[in-house]
Amino acid sequence: MKPINRRQFVRAGAAVAAAAAVPSRAFGQAPTVLAPKTVRPLVVCSANGHQYRNGGAETCVEKAFAMIASGRDVLDAVIAGVTLNEQDPLDMTVGFGALPNADGVLQLDASCMHGPLKRAGGVSALEGVKTPSLVARAVADRTDHHLLTGAGAQAFARRLGFEILPDLNTEASRKAWFEWKRQTDPLHYLDPEDREVAVRKVSLAILRRLGVEPEHAYGTINCNGLGPKGEVCGVTTTAGLAWKIPGRVGDSPILGAGLYVDNAAGAAGSTGRGEANLYNLSSFLVVELMRQGLHPKDAGLAVLKRIKANTIEKRLLNSRGLPNFGLNFYILNAKGEHAGVGMYPSRYAVCTENGAETRPVEALCEGRAED
Ligand code: GLY
Repeated sequence: MKPINRRQFVRAGAAVAAAAAVPSRAFGQAPTVLAPKTVRPLVVCSANGHQYRNGGAETCVEKAFAMIASGRDVLDAVIAGVTLNEQDPLDMTVGFGALPNADGVLQLDASCMHGPLKRAGGVSALEGVKTPSLVARAVADRTDHHLLTGAGAQAFARRLGFEILPDLNTEASRKAWFEWKRQTDPLHYLDPEDREVAVRKVSLAILRRLGVEPEHAYGTINCNGLGPKGEVCGVTTTAGLAWKIPGRVGDSPILGAGLYVDNAAGAAGSTGRGEANLYNLSSFLVVELMRQGLHPKDAGLAVLKRIKANTIEKRLLNSRGLPNFGLNFYILNAKGEHAGVGMYPSRYAVCTENGAETRPVEALCEGRAED
């Protein structure tokens, strides 16, 4: 064997250290996140998870955390949390009273994953049910499938006794849709390039007036929980992109895109432009990177970098050549480490035994998506 000089030795040592920090494991190999036997319960969520209360005392993260701390099933807890937002018409991005599709109809998407039981379920383009997250849970628990869509999902919900409403709009959501329709309808089915330019301006202006930040045009709440025995569960639920083309399904109901949970590694879920997560299967990738040893923050930022590199179409870039959309990930690992990361600065919600709060996300890019 040839002797190596000092510089080669230092380089080799650094490589070994890096390999130790991020063990390169093939997909499918045993997980590497070693969680202690008991961990402190934790809930991480998009910022709307600590904003709305549906007329009650608790926000989503407070409710979910309290249920986990009292020993309830972690998936039951995070779903109980997000159903507050689904039922609260003040959250115009999720469930009842959210912004409808281009025909004025609310089509809702949701998925959930139970880490310990390795169960998952989702619904897409579901009409008439205020709480798609609960229907997603029923798909996980009561069928051999992972995803039901459209009329079939609604028939399934009806048979299980869910109330089917003729219309999930409120006066506010209908009024906003009508205004959008009035200003954009002749342009609606233009090719993607023209539509982006024509509709984006009107949509952003209406969203601003409603008090919905542009990065929330894609709606959504994602909430992930960690129980004291290391149980990892998550749920994502959304009305999808405001005024979307009818039938458009985003990332939220697609396992690996808008949500992924692996009990041995952790959970990641997302809000923002669903198409970016469908293309990059982002939530799966975040969890897979955590399995390989990355901290939640580093795993999330690595995936955002991948998404940024894959965003090359002009209609998706702002004047600085950066993605013109918001995208966040809410991430926890099986050890109880967590992070909120975003393409641009925004906030996320956390609840621990010290209480609930929102914190700034770690942002990949400075400024705002639309600048
Ligand atoms: N992230 C939600 C959606 O794009 O539908």
